[in-house]
Amino acid sequence: MAAAEATGRRAEDGSPYPDRKQPSFQRDIQQMFTHIAEGYDGFDHIASVGNDFVWRPRALWDLDRFRAPGPVRRVLDLGCGTGDLAVLVARHFPRSAVVGLDFTRAMLKKATVRHGAARELPRVAFGQGTGLQLPFADAAFDLVTNAFVMRNFADLGLALREARRVLRPGGVFLTLEITEPTSPTFRRLFHAYFDRFVPWLGAAVGSAGPYRYLPESLRSLPSRPQLVEAMHRAGFFRIETHPQSLGIVTTFLAEAGPSNSAGSQSR
Ligand SMILES: C[S@@+](CC[C@H](N)C(=O)[O-])C[C@H]1O[C@@H](n2cnc3c(N)ncnc32)[C@H](O)[C@@H]1O
Repeated sequence: MAAAEATGRRAEDGSPYPDRKQPSFQRDIQQMFTHIAEGYDGFDHIASVGNDFVWRPRALWDLDRFRAPGPVRRVLDLGCGTGDLAVLVARHFPRSAVVGLDFTRAMLKKATVRHGAARELPRVAFGQGTGLQLPFADAAFDLVTNAFVMRNFADLGLALREARRVLRPGGVFLTLEITEPTSPTFRRLFHAYFDRFVPWLGAAVGSAGPYRYLPESLRSLPSRPQLVEAMHRAGFFRIETHPQSLGIVTTFLAEAGPSNSAGSQSR
């Protein structure tokens, strides 16, 4: 196992190419994000054709319609990457303190540089840690958010249970994730785009592995109903899904049940 962890899969250009079947998967994900940290935001804007500027604010708009009125003071943004959602959430809830947690140091470093001049920065604390074992007490947060992280977890159920554990009962969980488009015609285009164009673009910028992993990771993510079911099993209820951009991405919203509710929710 140690040898497998030391090696990891690599693309022909030497870039990390995580393989979910390998025991080194989580470490390879970390290496992959270390490899792409510098160009992450630019690539994201190009690959999403600028739509990523809309998706995060729209998810917060969905959140406002979902949550019960009342202050949001303690927020965790899980897998915060270069910090866009964490800072946006801090701006959206001006009296909140936001923790941006990520296990890739290079992404966190980029976050502090990228948002160094943001007025909200004093209310945002970036820190390193894994979503599979959150370094926080039970019920520590009113809101847990995450964008484009779920498909990278080695154990999705565990990550969801951890998110529920650190939310106070009644707290809200927001997930923004790439999903299958709702229309079959558009779905074919979507797969052609991710299976052909994105890997080609990745190879052009010396990151063949990460951008070949991206379409694979989309295929390994549970469908919308399966993800909802997994959230139920982890102890969330009142779950809503809000597709955006013809379903290319979906905002998932859920309320945290009581602390002993994991596995006991029925649909
Ligand atoms: C695609 S990026 C998304 C970043 C950011 N949320 C955004 O909206 O741009 C996924 C991030 O999740 C982080 N990540 C993946 N698995 C993780 C884990 N197990 N624990 C903590 N962070 C993780 C990666 O390091 C990376 O920064």
